[in-house]
Amino acid sequence: MYQKIAIITGSSSGIGKAFLELVAGDNGEFFKTPFDEIWAVARREDALKELASSVGNGRIVPVVADLASDSGISLIEDKLRTEEPVVGLLINSAGMGIKGRVTDKSSKALDDTIRINCSALSQMIRICAPYMKPGENGHAKIINIASSAGFLPQPGFACYAASKSYVISFSRALSCELKPKGIDVMAVCPGPVATDFQRRATEGKETDFNDWRKNFVIDPVKLSRKSLKASVRGRRMLVYPFSQKLLHLASKIVPISWILAFESGAVKE
Ligand SMILES: NC(=O)c1ccc[n+]([C@@H]2O[C@H](COP(=O)([O-])OP(=O)(O)OC[C@H]3O[C@@H](n4cnc5c(N)ncnc54)[C@H](OP(=O)(O)O)[C@@H]3O)[C@@H](O)[C@H]2O)c1
Repeated sequence: MYQKIAIITGSSSGIGKAFLELVAGDNGEFFKTPFDEIWAVARREDALKELASSVGNGRIVPVVADLASDSGISLIEDKLRTEEPVVGLLINSAGMGIKGRVTDKSSKALDDTIRINCSALSQMIRICAPYMKPGENGHAKIINIASSAGFLPQPGFACYAASKSYVISFSRALSCELKPKGIDVMAVCPGPVATDFQRRATEGKETDFNDWRKNFVIDPVKLSRKSLKASVRGRRMLVYPFSQKLLHLASKIVPISWILAFESGAVKE
């Protein structure tokens, strides 16, 4: 008997954890039939084990993998090959970014950002898609967590913003490639979200958003709920909340030279 599963990367904290808890506790709000297993992918084994024991009635399977490494992707690929599940939902939420000028950053910081945000997300889709097909819940779903940072170049956070532009563009193209196979792909573009992200991005210097962005911070559970609903409706892109829709519009109509002039003044040492 095949297993119908969901796979959620970055599920040890923040947005991925909120997705995991919602999918594990789903009683028909999003999907008609629940998943037999939810593979929770991240590096922190303790956090995944704690989640597995507290939600999902034993259906959460911790998958400890470093997505910045080839072996992390191979581990998941081997597990898929061995178990041959039907993957009904893939959420790519693992992500990172380190703030500061590119020339001040280590080779590893840049490389990991591109590997996790771009390469691992693409590889996860490549290895999961052969196991994805429509079922009782309609089309299989892929949700990629991009960011409103992907709308514009961002001096002081250049590699991260560029990596999220990749996620938006990649998701849009894949939504056309995979639709005929019964797989819907959606990119989610939030502004600031209340997670550990800012602490990690500033290497512990700031725990929360404390500039003008603090007025726009949203709750990860609210974002995840909104994303699941939009994905079930077959949306290609979710820009949330309204403040980020305005930013999206501005990114299309305001000359880029003006935006860069404004942003350059905000680069922190
Ligand atoms: N928070 C925001 O303001 C914001 C805004 C827009 C978009 N986003 C995006 O939302 C996504 C989730 O971020 P978050 O806000 O939830 O931050 P977070 O709490 O720091 O979560 C990041 C997740 O990614 C996982 N991860 C990081 N490096 C990894 C690696 N090498 N291998 C495997 N997993 C790894 C982490 O797990 P381990 O450390 O256990 O490996 C963690 O579960 C990211 O793609 C981020 O870019 C965040």
